[in-house]
Amino acid sequence: MVDIVPLSSYPSYIDLLPSIQTCNITNLPENYFLKYYLYHALTWPQLSFVAVVRPKGGYKAGTSKAGAGDLSGNYPKVVGYVLAKMEEEPTDGMQHGHITSLSVMRTHRRLGIAERLMRMSQKAMAESHRANYVSLHVRMSNVAALRLYRDTLGFEVEKVESKYYADGEDAYAMHLNLQSMWMDWKAVEARDKENEKNDDAQDEGDAVGDLGKKDDAKDQEKMVKVKVGRGLGVGELVERNESQPSA
Ligand SMILES: CC(C)(COP(=O)(O)OP(=O)(O)OC[C@H]1O[C@@H](n2cnc3c(N)ncnc32)[C@H](O)[C@@H]1OP(=O)(O)O)[C@@H](O)C(=O)NCCC(=O)NCCS
Repeated sequence: MVDIVPLSSYPSYIDLLPSIQTCNITNLPENYFLKYYLYHALTWPQLSFVAVVRPKGGYKAGTSKAGAGDLSGNYPKVVGYVLAKMEEEPTDGMQHGHITSLSVMRTHRRLGIAERLMRMSQKAMAESHRANYVSLHVRMSNVAALRLYRDTLGFEVEKVESKYYADGEDAYAMHLNLQSMWMDWKAVEARDKENEKNDDAQDEGDAVGDLGKKDDAKDQEKMVKVKVGRGLGVGELVERNESQPSA
């Protein structure tokens, strides 16, 4: 049984990175230092996914010093991964995602694993980063990957990049528009407001004993509205040096 899960769903996903690196080295000539995987995992934890073989008998808590719940002792075998990121300095000024690397072990090919890894990463790019599109490079000779990207997933060739690879092979630069997958936040907010109204309107029944009384203003729980999430500017989230008097 193969599970496809976000890299970040493991309690200590850093332990999985060497297995991802092994999968990459086994399947592709384009390889990276371990710290490059770590950089992806720490910077864009939602965007990279792994295909892992579920251990026989399921996942068990480890017996290591880290204590109960530590799964690092019996981490499952990685049979595929997609390593993805957001482009940090997009030359066209458009916020977009990029597939750094994708591969599936020979033993597990043609099972739809790469397609699922790609679709999950694309969805995460659109929903959590509002990516306009996703880009990637592929060797012109890589028929399997080309068919996956162009025919199965709908990518289009943007241009040919001459001698893109270290061995001199040209690459297709491909991209796929993701705007149709964006979350409609206005609709989500409207739905939340509607639910709030319905909750307020619900009859909670008569007060039972003193604890249930709502007319004693002193004892009433004070409801305070707080700003959360996107409403806050980045400045509000930056840690302050409390030893300095505030301006
Ligand atoms: C390319 C690769 C990731 C595909 O992984 P996979 O899990 O076997 O792919 P999927 O099962 O999801 O295939 C989805 C579709 O891709 C196409 N495809 C995949 N492998 C193919 C192959 N060997 N020949 C032709 N088409 C292929 C097919 O259209 C397939 O749909 P179908 O099985 O319904 O015909 C895998 O072959 C691999 O790891 N190759 C080596 C590494 C690599 O080239 N990575 C891409 C670098 S850009």
